[in-house]
Amino acid sequence: MSQTIRFFLNGQKQEASVRPDMTVLDWLRSTPRLTGTKEGCAEGDCGACSVLIGDPWFAPRQTQGEETHHEGEVHYHAANSCILAMGQIDGRALVTVEGLKGEQLHPVQEAMAENGSSQCGFCTPGIVISLAGLAAGKAGANDDDIHDALAGNLCRCTGYRPIVEAGRKVIRAGGAKIAGPQVAAFAKIEPHATISASGATFHQPASLNVLLQLRKERPEAILLGGGTDLGVALADYHSGWDEVVSLAHVSELRAVRETENHLSFGAAVTWEEVLERVAGFYPSFATLIRRFGSTQIRSMGTIGGNIGTASPIGDGPPALIALGAEVELASLSGHRFLPLEDFFLYYRKTELRPDEVIASVSIPKPGEGQEFRVYKISKRYDQDISTVCAAFSIVREEGQVRSARIAYGGMAATPQRAGQAEQALVGSSFDRKAIDACAAAITAQFKPLTDWRGSADYRLKVAANLAERFWRDVAGETVEVMAL
Ligand SMILES: Cc1cc2nc3c(=O)[nH]c(=O)nc-3n(C[C@H](O)[C@H](O)[C@H](O)COP(=O)(O)OP(=O)(O)OC[C@H]3O[C@@H](n4cnc5c(N)ncnc54)[C@H](O)[C@@H]3O)c2cc1C
Ligand code: FES
Ligand code: FES
Repeated sequence: MSQTIRFFLNGQKQEASVRPDMTVLDWLRSTPRLTGTKEGCAEGDCGACSVLIGDPWFAPRQTQGEETHHEGEVHYHAANSCILAMGQIDGRALVTVEGLKGEQLHPVQEAMAENGSSQCGFCTPGIVISLAGLAAGKAGANDDDIHDALAGNLCRCTGYRPIVEAGRKVIRAGGAKIAGPQVAAFAKIEPHATISASGATFHQPASLNVLLQLRKERPEAILLGGGTDLGVALADYHSGWDEVVSLAHVSELRAVRETENHLSFGAAVTWEEVLERVAGFYPSFATLIRRFGSTQIRSMGTIGGNIGTASPIGDGPPALIALGAEVELASLSGHRFLPLEDFFLYYRKTELRPDEVIASVSIPKPGEGQEFRVYKISKRYDQDISTVCAAFSIVREEGQVRSARIAYGGMAATPQRAGQAEQALVGSSFDRKAIDACAAAITAQFKPLTDWRGSADYRLKVAANLAERFWRDVAGETVEVMAL
């Protein structure tokens, strides 16, 4: 058991003896007094607190057929330090805006200054960090990538055009690597199995077996994926985490498995990594994931956490349910596999037992004659929670719908399948009559809530209209609406 958290801070080995649930933002500003990292919203939305996290484990190895572990070169990604706990950076590299500059300005800083990309400057450090993360990682990034990288950074006074131009300039010049420790250096700061300081304990099991043992012995301890849900409560309500079991280093939960017919994601695989894997199979799912929070959120938030949080408006479940996903629950007593739709019982209540964890989620690869689309309706295109999310998957054979799976989020207390609507399509030739019956069944099944995101009436209309949109998309009538 260790009392200190070890990491590289702007390239230098650092030890911190603080509660592992202290936020990285609070620590940065109060202890080393690196105040370039700002606090805006304190809930992962504005990007003012962005930092880069680097570690040698988070670069997925591209292999087919067998388990893929995360190893290789040091991979940097942006994260929101306001919802990141100090325990989560144990064994990793942390780069703040102060650390980007060496003898000279970092190319992103230089381009921002030359382009007049900043006025009041409050947002600027976070924007520099996000662009530096992009410039370090993605060779040949295009404008969409620049917009994606900036989707989690609010700037209220300059306007984005000169900021995007600064990004373009750095990318055109070939990007810029982050100067920092090499992979071998991380051996000196290997993650501790347990950190305990000032009454808070942070476990970091490295295998599923150790995780399940901990889960059995400490069912009350908080299971922490990427902390993008839990971290908001930590930051907003200053709620402490006395005992945490982090999933970030459990190798089985970090694996992606690809077989001839399936893709299986360990529960601690991040949305950014899921995006990389599904893009070639289900482009519509990839479009949805690109709209999931921001780069900062997708780089930390996991597929297991999105299911575990059991939000009725989570974006993953409708798409996964329509794809026929199966969830694997593991405990020391064994593993059980459920269709994802059976995992959600009532509002925020799930099948998960106190000694279990979500181990993996698997989806079939696309089959012959299959059409899949998922639509997210929200007030903003980027960085917003769904009002309604609808996913449709049909398989057609000789012009007839052989099977259909339809799932909705935002329409009930849990993500739900639309059984009658599916039946309206099965056996049909996917024509106007069938789609009208499908839309009518959707209207009849759901009794959504009215809240500030949308009235019940609005949700019902949107939900039914999305069936028509699916029909028109499959017929090739509509085009993807991209960011404005
Ligand atoms: C600014 C912002 C934007 C967001 N945008 C979106 C969005 O567009 N769409 C969306 O759907 N969500 C969004 N979210 C919510 C969140 O990012 C996702 O739900 C994410 O997938 C959660 O994953 P996590 O690993 O961070 O979960 P955590 O916060 O670590 O955990 C969430 C819950 O799941 C449990 N859990 C985690 N892993 C497991 C496991 N393996 N087994 C059992 N239980 C587990 C935890 O105990 C906890 O109860 C957003 C959040 C923020 C802060
Ligand atoms: S302070 Fe706004 S995202 Fe962290
Ligand atoms: S420069 Fe003022 S908010 Fe961006």
